[in-house]
Amino acid sequence: MYNTSKYSTLFEPVKIGPVTAPNRFYQVPHCCGMGHIRPQAHAAMRAMKAEGGWGVVSTEETEIHPSSDLSPYAEQRLWDARDIPALRLMTDAVHAKGSLAAVELVHNGNHAANMLTRAPVLAPSDMSVDYAYPKQARAMDISDIREFRRWHRAAARRAKQAGFDVIYVYAGHHMSLPHHFLLPQFNDRSDEYGGSLENRARLIRELLEETHDEVGDTCAVAFRFAVDEMKGIDGMQAHEEGRAVVEMFAEMPDLWDVNVSDWSNDSATTRFQPNDGYQTPYVEFVKKLTTKPVVAVGRLTSPDMMLSMVKRGIVDFIGAARPSIADPFLPQKIRTGRIDEIRECIGCNICVSSDNLGIPIRCTQNPTMGEEWRRGWHPEKIATKGTQEETLVVGGGPAGLECAMQLAKRGYQVTLAEAGKELGGRVLAESRLHGLGAWKRVTDHRIYDLQQRANVQMFMESDLTAEDVIELGIPNVFVASGASWRRDGVGRSNRRPVDITKGMSILTPDNIMAGKLPDNGPVLIYDDDQIYIGGVLAEHLAVAGHQVIFVTPANMVSPWTELTLEQVRIQKSLIEHGVIIHTGQKLAAISDTGCRLACVYSEQLREIKCGSVVMVTERTRHNDLYDTLKVGPSSFETLELIGDAASPGLIADAVYAGHMAARNFEEDPDKVAQQFFRREIVSLQ
Ligand SMILES: Cc1cc2nc3c(=O)[nH]c(=O)nc-3n(C[C@H](O)[C@H](O)[C@H](O)COP(=O)(O)O)c2cc1C
Ligand code: SF4
Repeated sequence: MYNTSKYSTLFEPVKIGPVTAPNRFYQVPHCCGMGHIRPQAHAAMRAMKAEGGWGVVSTEETEIHPSSDLSPYAEQRLWDARDIPALRLMTDAVHAKGSLAAVELVHNGNHAANMLTRAPVLAPSDMSVDYAYPKQARAMDISDIREFRRWHRAAARRAKQAGFDVIYVYAGHHMSLPHHFLLPQFNDRSDEYGGSLENRARLIRELLEETHDEVGDTCAVAFRFAVDEMKGIDGMQAHEEGRAVVEMFAEMPDLWDVNVSDWSNDSATTRFQPNDGYQTPYVEFVKKLTTKPVVAVGRLTSPDMMLSMVKRGIVDFIGAARPSIADPFLPQKIRTGRIDEIRECIGCNICVSSDNLGIPIRCTQNPTMGEEWRRGWHPEKIATKGTQEETLVVGGGPAGLECAMQLAKRGYQVTLAEAGKELGGRVLAESRLHGLGAWKRVTDHRIYDLQQRANVQMFMESDLTAEDVIELGIPNVFVASGASWRRDGVGRSNRRPVDITKGMSILTPDNIMAGKLPDNGPVLIYDDDQIYIGGVLAEHLAVAGHQVIFVTPANMVSPWTELTLEQVRIQKSLIEHGVIIHTGQKLAAISDTGCRLACVYSEQLREIKCGSVVMVTERTRHNDLYDTLKVGPSSFETLELIGDAASPGLIADAVYAGHMAARNFEEDPDKVAQQFFRREIVSLQ
């Protein structure tokens, strides 16, 4: 253990206007898919962050009025007084742990299509809504602006009544009216709210003044501002208008929360932005222009980087969304000298994907995220063992590692058997691909933990047969034997094997992840999976110098990655690497010289010459061992199939399955049989 006083600066209290944060750890606003429809789950998740040591804990976007209705997404709401009690749950829970509660008031302008309320959409100028939805926003006239300011003031009043300590004015992500007014691309007005920067920023000035006036006696007013759009001269830049805005309002807010825009730049993935602290070059000027405390973000997970940012006068607060999701107890682990135990965010944006799907948040690294209330899971606590002693986990991939780690934490004797030379399974394999190196943190965290425990034995190159398992005589067996990619073309679009003539070299993602590269080019990647791995492989092979042809039945490369904010970057990268892309095409047949493709709309056929084919279609579960054990003569106390072997999915799903199996082991069978969680049922009153 290191000298914990090294990081004592991070645990100093910091004043924000009329309130004081107990330390420098600041959970910035982030959505969680629970929002106003799951208030108890929301409050419990935020309270967990406070328990873990985050001195300020914020909500997600909180709609101030029915004309900012983000349905079907579940954000927070303060439309009227009836929304106060749901948010009071959060502020009480956060205060009970000694932290401050912050609320991000928002009017989304044309970013909200008002699908529930059907209210007219508002914007500085006439324009389409921000989705492919048949509606346009109308330019707000002066009375609309006056009304909007009244709504914002009233919402601030309600936020204060709900118990919030910090109340936000928000101009970021291209997602709020103040931001839209500020940016010339949204604002072509010729009145006092358009034209010069002074005019475009007028609304922000008014909101800051009015929020102060309304609640500033007891609440701090924070300003979240994106200093740079990262579009070069086509957008706001940190060293030009971004700086001018900070100069203009320097002392007006009680706190500056600064970042970059749009959301894909702000929440950049490690695949496209490998450097933690990547926003620092854009925001480091801010503190020089204000005496007010500054918070910044950018996957800040390293305690040394945090300390250096404070000591160098770049920030007063360490802002975090994803690091606080991956490890709600990050501050406490630093404080108590347990840095090695931090579950570092891997920058995969699975958390973002759940928000974009409108479902409760999930995280690859932290399987308890979003489960605090409905399943009662705590990221750092798990029930001690029951009456059983010994457990065997077969397979050291993400499900097996998580299961073994949690069983060991509970106090069981754990034997972990891995067929390969190294632990890690698919995580290790995928992390060897271009851009995915940080994903290895998933296994590093778990292997480190297992290595510290005396009640764990780990065996590599142990490809156990059913006889081996029976011979071991361990009564509780968890089979996490994974899955492998198919070679026959069966997938979403072809439910029967594709006609393949001998002679063509066919590879699967597993072959490439194991280090095998195609012998003959060009290499055609057939991506009928349409999630992420096809695009990663195309980039990986192109970077390795192969000529790549990318074929997919989808209408874009890796469509699922729109949810992780990466799709545009992926397609751009493939184009820049010279990958030839064919969308809307499914594989009809493979000859020894190339592939026959069929248009998914017209069935029109075309031939493409290639030297090898990589099939990215579906995975086959490795369930033979489990099936044999299940019907065999030996009776186990527990025999459970988990992870990809039970249901291939994301790494996050495998980790979750491993966690669930370890939690449920020796639990009340009725509860486990139901596999159920608490639900927030709509009141019929
Ligand atoms: C799942 C998720 C939801 C987010 N929702 C919001 C939001 O509601 N309002 C907001 O201002 N920023 C939101 N953000 C952006 C974060 O506040 C933060 O600025 C960004 O993720 C970069 O910080 P990080 O690297 O610590 O995650 C969200 C980020 C994530 C990961
Ligand atoms: S889902 Fe991925 S990006 Fe999001 S917090 Fe977890 S590890 Fe980080």
